[in-house]
Amino acid sequence: MISLNGAYSSKIEEARKVIEREDFFRVFSHYDADGVSSALILVESLRRMEKDFHLSFLRSMELDIIKESAEYPVILSDLGTDISENLRSSSVIIVDHHMISGSDDKNVTNLNPRKYGYDGTKDACSSTVAFLLSMALDEANSDMFPAFMAGVIGDKQNVGGFNGINALLVDDSKSRYQSSKDLNLSGKTASEAIYLSIEPYFSGLSGNLEESRFFLQNMAIDPDSPITNLRTDEKEKIADSLTIRLIKQNAAREGYETLVSDVFNFKNLGLTGNQLSDYFDAAGRNGKMGLPTSWYMGNEEAKEEMDSLSTKLKKEAIEQIKRSYETKKEMNNFHLAYVENPYLAGIAASTLMLYLLQGSKPVIALYRNKGTKVSGRSTRELVLKGVDLSAAIGSAAAKVGGHGGGHDIAAGGEIPFDKEEEFLNALNEELGEQIGSS
Ligand code: C5P
Ligand code: C5P
Repeated sequence: MISLNGAYSSKIEEARKVIEREDFFRVFSHYDADGVSSALILVESLRRMEKDFHLSFLRSMELDIIKESAEYPVILSDLGTDISENLRSSSVIIVDHHMISGSDDKNVTNLNPRKYGYDGTKDACSSTVAFLLSMALDEANSDMFPAFMAGVIGDKQNVGGFNGINALLVDDSKSRYQSSKDLNLSGKTASEAIYLSIEPYFSGLSGNLEESRFFLQNMAIDPDSPITNLRTDEKEKIADSLTIRLIKQNAAREGYETLVSDVFNFKNLGLTGNQLSDYFDAAGRNGKMGLPTSWYMGNEEAKEEMDSLSTKLKKEAIEQIKRSYETKKEMNNFHLAYVENPYLAGIAASTLMLYLLQGSKPVIALYRNKGTKVSGRSTRELVLKGVDLSAAIGSAAAKVGGHGGGHDIAAGGEIPFDKEEEFLNALNEELGEQIGSS
């Protein structure tokens, strides 16, 4: 087991005792890859202890729904840390890594690593916390490393190498799970892996099967061969050519870093860490959050379904990225894009940011409905220059009667539909101040 600071270890021990003591848990988790992965780890740990549970997935900390079950012990996972109201439940365990503003009620065991000096954007995500708790319950739960990794990848805490608690866990598991530097592309065939690639997004190849096949044939590589069957020299050729393409399209630095990175190949699952993360993400975004847990508990058909959902999501996302790119606008301090599907806002903002808009300014994607959903993405370089999207979106949204938050590099919010212009102007000003003051 890894060594954490004393205060955090004691908190995890406190949560372990709560779980030992109770027989039934109401578990709520976020529906993204990290939320789905942490939920899987938590409920599988409970199942192995023969505890009963009821798992539901939520978009955010929807207290109205949570309160309905609050007479039971509750576990809240990846939904944020601040509970604005006191839940009447005897015990509440928080498995999370988001920013913290308030303090905890006494029935709350808050495992957010930010409270203990760790960085919740780089060092640990919710799956990390769930995995720590799970291993405190039983060291044999270390076999859930793949689900932990799927969450870390989903929250991009692997980009540029592992840090903090994630790095400690990766190191601790290396006798059983090893990564190797490899082409970070996944698909049934090499051409499909390139054609469906969003991170990295290759202009001219992503979304274009013909061109992707042609690209490989030009290098005398069989486009129908699975990536895993390619020889090392073939993979190197692909990596070199794709890197040149990324340079030509002016991709941001972390955009290149994802092309060749630490890839975990989980042979017993027949999946890489990235595939697993893609599967969980696709299940969540398609409203089928139960599939990963059901698959992990033995339902092989769920894997097929996650595979087709993942392919469908990637195709939709690539079409969305192209449309958003065509209709983008430029403000002084950010690029603005529109999406037609709320689940694609973050993906579109991220891809435009890293691969298509030269990484020069943050990208803000808007989904207009009754209210307007905001998703913003930045780069490490811009963050170093002073950009903090969580603060900028949070503050600009609050000025127009909305709300928002997240991380410096990736944040989101919601604003009233008729306040878009006012919000964009306020955001432009906030970002201007951040960059100016750096
Ligand atoms: O809700 P949560 O904090 O888990 O979501 C973080 C979001 O930020 C994820 O969608 C993740 O992909 C995104 N992210 C990003 N770039 C980073 C770090 C996180 O787009 N460097
Ligand atoms: O929705 P999206 O993937 O863009 O969210 C990016 C980050 O912003 C996540 O960490 C999410 O939890 C956070 N967020 C937030 N408040 C919102 C919307 C998103 O804190 N209203």
